[in-house]
Amino acid sequence: MRQGLRMIGFWGVAVLGVMSVLAQSVQWPQPPIQQRQVIENGRRVYLRYCVGCHGEKGDGQGPAAAMLWPKPRDFRDGVFKFLTVPRGDLPPDRDLFRIVTHGLPGSAMPSWRLLPETERWAVIQYIKTFATRWQEESPGQPIEVAPDPYAFYSPEEIRSEVIPRGEAVYHGLTKCWACHPAYVSADQIAEYLRQFGRGEEAASIRPDLHKPQKTTDRWGNILFPPDFTRNRLKSVSSLEDLYIRIGAGVGGTEMPVWKGQIPEEDLWAVTYYVASLIEKRGIFLPRRRPL
Ligand code: HEC
Ligand code: HEC
Repeated sequence: MRQGLRMIGFWGVAVLGVMSVLAQSVQWPQPPIQQRQVIENGRRVYLRYCVGCHGEKGDGQGPAAAMLWPKPRDFRDGVFKFLTVPRGDLPPDRDLFRIVTHGLPGSAMPSWRLLPETERWAVIQYIKTFATRWQEESPGQPIEVAPDPYAFYSPEEIRSEVIPRGEAVYHGLTKCWACHPAYVSADQIAEYLRQFGRGEEAASIRPDLHKPQKTTDRWGNILFPPDFTRNRLKSVSSLEDLYIRIGAGVGGTEMPVWKGQIPEEDLWAVTYYVASLIEKRGIFLPRRRPL
């Protein structure tokens, strides 16, 4: 009997030993089993909810695509529009999670808030299998939201100092009206250009100044950059979102990066100015929104 127990003890240790070797070896295969399961899960989600627009190959050519404008995103080149990283960089998962959660208002891309979070994270892993870029590059660095120098200004000071400064930046320094509409007269723009030492550029003020300029994105969609007093924005529901969008630009379009190109006080001022244009539609942006 004693002998028997000792034998069990021996075999028990032996079995444990074998199991621990197995346990180590299951950590080796790439991608890890857990990751494969997530992708498989994500594929199921994708085939149920996304394929109709984004297509089986992730090329943006699902059956519904023909009727949509702009077209659903083609995932094969790993380029996205509305990120927190400078345009052109690969996004961190968090950026895609936000887009999938909130959708892109004003386009056909719906909000998937009602899908369980695990399914949203999983479908993002699946989307990433469409572009080889994800194996070759790491995600970019989200642009830093600098402290808002006007955070403690009174509403009156915002109105009388910050918004006018933003208006001057918008028309005289960053020339947002090269694509978006202008919101002041041509004479006023000439004056703002002079303020920033660019008076000679007044000659390039286009005649249809108060209309957006037609542009084309890298996927061939014809786009009119939004008129902030009329159009819904796709990725902006807080002041901070707006700062990030102006700072990071829009991937695959002509909308440039402004972070690092102009002083922070001007970047914030133009953010307040655009927010004041959005307010004309009765929409007041909160300072920030959660993920
Ligand atoms: C009804 C059609 C439709 C469905 C269904 C749909 N999308 Fe989209 N999606 C779009 C359109 C249209 C765009 C491009 C909008 C634009 O460029 O303004 C888009 C863009 C995107 C983008 C890119 C955003 C960017 O910043 O470039 C992602 C990511 C995305 N969709 C994920 C998904 C996922 C995941 C699903 C399924 C859970 C899904 N979509 C279902 C229409 C759809
Ligand atoms: C060279 C052209 C160009 C210039 C200059 C430009 N933009 Fe844009 N902008 C675009 C285009 C194109 C889009 C539309 C992207 C889309 O919907 O796919 C856009 C979109 C936007 C959006 C909306 C993003 C959303 O969530 O829908 C904001 C905000 C914006 N621009 C602000 C600005 C500001 C402020 C400036 C100046 C500091 C500026 N842009 C300069 C081309 C430009």
